[in-house]
Amino acid sequence: MRELETDFAVVGSGLAGLQTAWWLASSGEVLLFTRSGMEAGNSFRAQGGIAAAVGDGDSPDLHRADTLRAGAGLCRPAAVDVLVRGGADAVDDLIGLGAPFDRVGEGWALGKEGSHSVARILHAAGDATGKVLVRTLWSQVEQHPRIHLLPWTRVTGLIAEEGECYGLTAVSGGHPVHCRARAVVLATGGCGQLFRYTTNDPAVTGDGLALASRAGATLADMELVQFHPTALAVEQNPMFLISEALRGEGAVLVNDRGEAFMSRYHDWEDLAPRDVVSRAIDREMRDGRRVYLDARGLKDRFATRFPTIDARCRAYGIQPGNELIPVIPAAHFLMGGVRTDLFGRTSLRRLFAVGEVACTGVHGANRLASNSLLEGAVFARRVAGAAASLPPPTRPAQRVVVPRMCNDEQKETAIIDDLRRIMWEHAGIIRNKEGLLTGLDALTRLRKRVPENGLSCHFMIEVSQMILKSALMREESRGGHYRSDFPEPQTRWTYRRIYIQRGEPVE
Ligand code: SIN
Repeated sequence: MRELETDFAVVGSGLAGLQTAWWLASSGEVLLFTRSGMEAGNSFRAQGGIAAAVGDGDSPDLHRADTLRAGAGLCRPAAVDVLVRGGADAVDDLIGLGAPFDRVGEGWALGKEGSHSVARILHAAGDATGKVLVRTLWSQVEQHPRIHLLPWTRVTGLIAEEGECYGLTAVSGGHPVHCRARAVVLATGGCGQLFRYTTNDPAVTGDGLALASRAGATLADMELVQFHPTALAVEQNPMFLISEALRGEGAVLVNDRGEAFMSRYHDWEDLAPRDVVSRAIDREMRDGRRVYLDARGLKDRFATRFPTIDARCRAYGIQPGNELIPVIPAAHFLMGGVRTDLFGRTSLRRLFAVGEVACTGVHGANRLASNSLLEGAVFARRVAGAAASLPPPTRPAQRVVVPRMCNDEQKETAIIDDLRRIMWEHAGIIRNKEGLLTGLDALTRLRKRVPENGLSCHFMIEVSQMILKSALMREESRGGHYRSDFPEPQTRWTYRRIYIQRGEPVE
């Protein structure tokens, strides 16, 4: 057993984890645990960019109004205020760390995405914003004398007792690790990999959500999953994202009859909220049509403005400036997560959550495009400040068993494939009571096939059950959560959230 002791343990190496580690390092030693390497995780894949009210004619108030409208009555207004007012400083911090956002002359090159009333998306290297930001932060963190990276290390449990978290257990290179810390920060991202079709990195399986729940922390809004309308319709895992920024630049969704169908679904047409666009595409597909993005109008600038998308489409034999791009919706983001206050504090003392794994309430029922990198950057600094102010724990070291991991990869993969099919079918874009109950039954049966030490499968099943149970409870449609048996929002559910305690929903 490898015994470690540190001031701060950060779990996850996306933008939120890297920035939190960076801020924490001014107050103590930081161990940064990450399941694989730098290129894993969703931040690295982010294309569109980071939303911030830094352009002419924009303001935090306008950004606030757009975020609240997209959130469909479930945003926590105080969290939205923190987010939009912190935007300009967060961008300055990133620039200070070396982030090279794209410019036009003296000003920022700002993109536009769905539901934004103005162009406010900063981007880097065209459509490779996440890659550029993660590389920039990773190199800063790697060189920092007080931050120690532990790549390829899987966190298997949190050490918690009497409402307080004292550290974590992990497995690194097959060896058990026991780490005590003054504070633990979860920055593990969401759980898109629970769904058959997803834009999320293979490492994004909901670990932080399962770890927090097992340790007794409260989770919230787990039914609120966002499905991105446009993943490249080529069977692969993960699906490659076709950024909403393309529609912001004028690309249009069409079906195989050549109809630009979005005008039938929403006044804002192709820039309607994501949940509306995803359901519209789903409707077209259920009516037997195929759906495409027509970006031929961008032909002259496609390769320079969207070099990553251009290259990937070409790799699949699609010339995006000349041909239609086939698209389908895919699971993209979890609005819910580990319930936190505005400083990332969870219901367990010394346990914090930041980024997608956290539920500050900032996204409500539907996240506004490009608010996720912003959330990571803005809240990282606040979380670090709160964690650094904690006194050292006074309890003696506890003895804990570090769970072993399953080494029957084939067996786990077969179970996970079944889980992803169940979730897509029963907790996907359109849900109803019968399907959600069927999904729960199927997961109960699936669990019987999991070997005792099949930790990945157990984590994924537990998080899936939380989604299904919460979705069953919310008898209405709102934002990313759509119930065909309750197709309208219900006044009695406005501002009402579903919390999860030890795997069971409570109001
Ligand atoms: C996109 O580029 O369409 C995705 C950005 C986001 O999810 O905010």
